[in-house]
Amino acid sequence: MRIGILTSGGDCPGLNAAIRGVARAAYQTLDAEIVGIRAGYRGLIDGDYQVMQQSQFSGILTMGGTILGTSRTPFRDMRLVEEDNVDKVHAMKMNYRSMRLDCLVTLGGNGTHKTANLLSQEGLNVIGLPKTIDNDIYGTDFTFGFHTAVDIATDVIDRIHTTAASHNRVMVIEIMGNKAGWLTLYAGIAGGADVILLPEIPYDINKVARVVDERAKNKKYFTIIAVAEGALSVEETQMKRKEREALWEGDPFKSVAQRIAAQLTQITSAECRAVIPGHMQRGGSPCAYDRVLSTEFGVRAAQLIREGRFGLTVALKEGRISENKLEDVAGVPKPVDPNDQTVISARDINISFGD
Ligand code: F6P
Repeated sequence: MRIGILTSGGDCPGLNAAIRGVARAAYQTLDAEIVGIRAGYRGLIDGDYQVMQQSQFSGILTMGGTILGTSRTPFRDMRLVEEDNVDKVHAMKMNYRSMRLDCLVTLGGNGTHKTANLLSQEGLNVIGLPKTIDNDIYGTDFTFGFHTAVDIATDVIDRIHTTAASHNRVMVIEIMGNKAGWLTLYAGIAGGADVILLPEIPYDINKVARVVDERAKNKKYFTIIAVAEGALSVEETQMKRKEREALWEGDPFKSVAQRIAAQLTQITSAECRAVIPGHMQRGGSPCAYDRVLSTEFGVRAAQLIREGRFGLTVALKEGRISENKLEDVAGVPKPVDPNDQTVISARDINISFGD
C-alpha cells in the first residue's frame, strides 16, 4: 500500500503530529510505504516527492510547522492553465500514477479540501484531515491547530492585560481569522477581554467607545479589546469589497486593530495601543489537546485506508472521531453563529460585541 501525504495551505501546530499519526498507524496496521509530497499541491503538480523512511516520522510529535513544507495553491486557479502551460489537474493525476500511489492523504483547510474533493471526483483515492487555527471547516467540532492558537492568543491577552492595567490604556489586540472569528471568540473569553469584535458581527465604533467610557466611570481605566483581523464595522459591511479596499488603501493604519485604536483615541480620552501578534499564533509546538486530536485524526485516516474508504475527510463530531464526505464539506464555510451558545455566554458576562 503506497500512501501519499501532503500538507497544504497555512501551516499550524499539529501538522507533524497528524503526519506521524497516519504514518505510525499505517506502518503498524498496513504493509505501507509512505510518499511525502513536498510543499502541498505544488509538489503533486511538479512531481516533487520522496519515499519516506520510518525514522523520518520519529521525534516530530511536538514540532511546529510541517516536515513536508506547505504552499498555497488557490483552488480557483487549479483548472487555470497559466504561463507555464501546465494543466495542474492533469499533472496531479499523472504524478499520482507515476508515484504509484494507492491513495493520497491531504492535510489542510478549506481550500485544501476543495482541491481534495476535485481530485476525488477525478477518480483519485483521497482522504482529508481538517487543520486550521481558524476552526472554520464545516462538519467538525474542532480542527487541529485551533486549541494551540487559542492558548497562544490567550497568553498574549494575559500579558497585555497587566501592562494595560498598569498604564490605564485601551489595548486593541488583533487576532488571526479573516472570515471566521472562532479564535478571537475563544481567546477573548479565555483572556477576559471586555470587547470581542468578530467578522460575523458588524461593530459600531461608538458602541465600543461607550464600553471604554462606562468602564472609566466605574474606575476601570483600561479596556481590553480582542478584534479578529477580518472584523468589519457596520458601514464597511455595507460597502463592496473593492470599495472597502480602496478606502483602506489610503489609510495609514492598515490593520483593523490600528484603525480601531486610532478611532478610539479620537472618540474617547483614553490612550490606545494596537497589538498584532500575527503569525506567532501559528507557530511552535502543539498543545496537548492538539497532539491528541492530530494523532487520532491521523490514525483514523489510516483506518479508512485499511477499510478502503475514500472521498472522505476525518472529523470530530460531538466529541467522537468520525468522518464526512469530502463533497459535503468542501467549500462550505463555518462562521461563528451570532446566536452560538458561546456568544450568548459571553454577552451574559457583559462582554460587548460592539453591536
Ligand atoms: O488560515 C490561517 C490563517 O492564519 C488566517 O487566520 C489568516 O487570515 C491567514 O491564514 C494568513 O495567511 P498568510 O499566512 O498567507 O499570511
